[in-house]
Amino acid sequence: MKQVKAWSGRFGFLAVIFLLSGCFGNENLSALDPKGPQAQWIYDNMILSLYIMAFVTLVVFAIFFYIIAKFRRKEGDNEYPKQVHGSTVLEITWTVIPILLLLVLFVPTIIGTFDFAESQAPEDVEDAVYIDVTGHQYWWQFDYEEGFTAGQEVYIPTGERVYFTLNATDVIHSFWVPALGGKIDTVPGIENTLWLEADEPGTYMGKCAELCGPSHALMDFKLIALEREDYDQWVEDMAAKADVEQPEDSSVQQGYEVFQENCISCHAVSGPGSASGPTLTNFGDRNTIAGYLDNTDEQLKAWIRNPDDFKQGNNMVPFPESEISEDEMDSLVAYLRSLNVRDGENAE
Ligand code: CUA
Repeated sequence: MKQVKAWSGRFGFLAVIFLLSGCFGNENLSALDPKGPQAQWIYDNMILSLYIMAFVTLVVFAIFFYIIAKFRRKEGDNEYPKQVHGSTVLEITWTVIPILLLLVLFVPTIIGTFDFAESQAPEDVEDAVYIDVTGHQYWWQFDYEEGFTAGQEVYIPTGERVYFTLNATDVIHSFWVPALGGKIDTVPGIENTLWLEADEPGTYMGKCAELCGPSHALMDFKLIALEREDYDQWVEDMAAKADVEQPEDSSVQQGYEVFQENCISCHAVSGPGSASGPTLTNFGDRNTIAGYLDNTDEQLKAWIRNPDDFKQGNNMVPFPESEISEDEMDSLVAYLRSLNVRDGENAE
């Protein structure tokens, strides 16, 4: 009785864990909820291998229990069973069946692996989008062919393959947007390729999937998919910012000067970005700071004052009040907020 109680307790605990595991998932950060053809392919093949595994388990256990029942030692049965040494038929059977099952998994896996690494659009596709991705400790740089750079948030059009070429500057990272496709390492000195496609407009969470230092778990990014015309508009707006030097809005002039004095050596605000820090051309459109903090004024100030409090081991230097006064900080924040191309409309 005691044992039954103990086991039912353990089972209950496992059941609760199992049920709760469904609650911790982040929307648009799940390979089990595919939002594009590549993710769908991965999901389908995961389910296929699950079915194969279930089938094998069922057959093996069925035979196992059948044999236990059928060949059980019976009352008064004191003789050794007949000794058997090998059976060619059986051995061929249990070699051939697994080979066939592996082939069922092997063929689509190989086809998919080569297809996902495709780095060029077919010739009949016009204006395919190519984006260079660079992993840094602990942020992402996205360089567009149109001559501008986006930091932390990569925009793509929906309904078509977007081709990424991936690289890293410091250590190995891994680029992963679970709802859209597979992960791929970004390795210093090596170019990897991957395409992704989103069916619907939306914001898809991305993660670094390779241990790359103390803040690896915070190396988040977002992939924002827009309808093709919205995407083209965004590209046009970002490209137009490339020549903007002075802020158009004179009320953020002071913040602009603070920025020029303290931040510009690492953070570009127009054109191709620098490799030292994320480009801030559209910082005002982002809904997170450093990839994961809510983009509020308080968090932004706290981040600039001491980035290491939030992302251990990152390369940004702290800016205590001796460097940037409270007043200057307010103007700097106002200036950063003014950097946007979508009229401050934070991408959802
Ligand atoms: Cu970059 Cu983990």
